[in-house]
Amino acid sequence: MTIPAPTRTLNVAMLGCGTVGSQVARLILGQADDLAARTGAHLNLVSIAVVNAHKARPGIDKSLFTTDSQALVERTDLDIIIEVMGGVEGTRELVAEALGRGTSVVTANKALLAAHGAELTTIAHEHGADLYYEAAVAGAIPIIRPLRESLVGDEITLVIGIVNGTTNYILDQMTSHGADYADALAEAQRLGYAEADPTADVEGYDAAAKAAILATLAFHTSVHFDQVYCEGISQLTAADVTAVGRLGFVLKLLAVAQLAEDDQISVRVHPVILPQSHPLASVGGAYNAIFVESRAAGRLMFMGPGAGGEPTASAVMGDLVTVARNRVRGVAGPAPTSYTDRVVATMGDTECSYYLSFEVADRPGVLAQAASVFGSHGVSLHTVSQIPGDEGDPGRDVPSATLAIMTHRTREHVIRDCVKELEGSPFLRGRVRLLRVEGVK
Ligand SMILES: NC(=O)c1ccc[n+]([C@@H]2O[C@H](COP(=O)([O-])OP(=O)(O)OC[C@H]3O[C@@H](n4cnc5c(N)ncnc54)[C@H](OP(=O)(O)O)[C@@H]3O)[C@@H](O)[C@H]2O)c1
Repeated sequence: MTIPAPTRTLNVAMLGCGTVGSQVARLILGQADDLAARTGAHLNLVSIAVVNAHKARPGIDKSLFTTDSQALVERTDLDIIIEVMGGVEGTRELVAEALGRGTSVVTANKALLAAHGAELTTIAHEHGADLYYEAAVAGAIPIIRPLRESLVGDEITLVIGIVNGTTNYILDQMTSHGADYADALAEAQRLGYAEADPTADVEGYDAAAKAAILATLAFHTSVHFDQVYCEGISQLTAADVTAVGRLGFVLKLLAVAQLAEDDQISVRVHPVILPQSHPLASVGGAYNAIFVESRAAGRLMFMGPGAGGEPTASAVMGDLVTVARNRVRGVAGPAPTSYTDRVVATMGDTECSYYLSFEVADRPGVLAQAASVFGSHGVSLHTVSQIPGDEGDPGRDVPSATLAIMTHRTREHVIRDCVKELEGSPFLRGRVRLLRVEGVK
């Protein structure tokens, strides 16, 4: 079949030309004929805003670079802007300006969307522009479009996934090699998987931004970054990993967006213990994977490289082609909706299963006393294991044992009351270790 030569040209500009942007620019320039055939228009890369216009960027003509990003977004001849410069304040104004002028925007910027997605979506909609952001969550993995389009006729009940490769690599090292958190982080930094300042990754903020975006699309409710409960991995120890491993579980940092029976939604990022048989448990290294449950489709799993210049550029290019096709047809794509306006539950009101481990005096009746704490709060226990300790410290006359308890689902505020009561009990030695569990009925 012969494809007619496109008669139309679409002007494309870029904000940023770093790890992701340089790959995107090379793909636009290097695949011009294929892109024209797929979109029905020549994609003409007209300008790229950067900080340093003199930096060597092989394969990209120097004349394309500018340091004036404001003048770039104000150009009246643009059809599409690709925002791959990152940042929130400053970037938000530039993207809003572009959308307000009817220029469609493709972005990879999760932080921007998690903080200002609702406002930018509205501006795009009011001005007939597209705002696409497949690359903002889980790099190359198609997950935004499945939520926004493929599954939009279904009712999604759960989105749960590994959306941060850095923390997955660190936890994988701790699990497979028994490494301590600090050593695993240092190794991740040496290999370039973690930044010199790893805070955004290890404290869960990066994953929380992605959780806000996923929840917004899955539940048709606008979820802001500040509404996401967030707990990172920096407090986890090799002992935690070993203890849960003995019970047949693995530790992962997960983003969870869940629809509860009362129609509230819970959006959170925290360490989770998963049965080794769970599909997410075997996702190792810097890979990402997202598991979706919906009423009609059932269970779906998406997996692949969650970051890196080329994989992320693939997702940006997919959006670029889609937005270009929309432009050629003179339409904008479907905007995400927020009509359900569901309440985002507090962590205290969220229901989970829990794993608690604590050291107790190993003497008759202690197990029953510990179990009665849960019973008195109406918490039903799934499993109770006792791990014998040493024969006792020389200074103690009674040896100790560790109790590892897994509960059925209960609200977090109830389990916190149990922890408080346990920590005030005379049989307890030390603190209670509390972790949340997924994948156990
Ligand atoms: N890297 C990944 O694997 C990945 C994965 C998914 C999503 N993302 C997202 O993609 C975006 C870009 O990430 P990246 O890793 O490509 O970043 P990067 O390597 O740091 O590149 C940033 C680019 O933006 C330019 N820039 C920064 N501030 C600017 C400003 N005020 N005006 C004009 N240009 C400016 C920089 O110019 P100079 O080159 O002159 O310094 C650079 O070219 C971020 O939102 C990130 O979260 C990245």
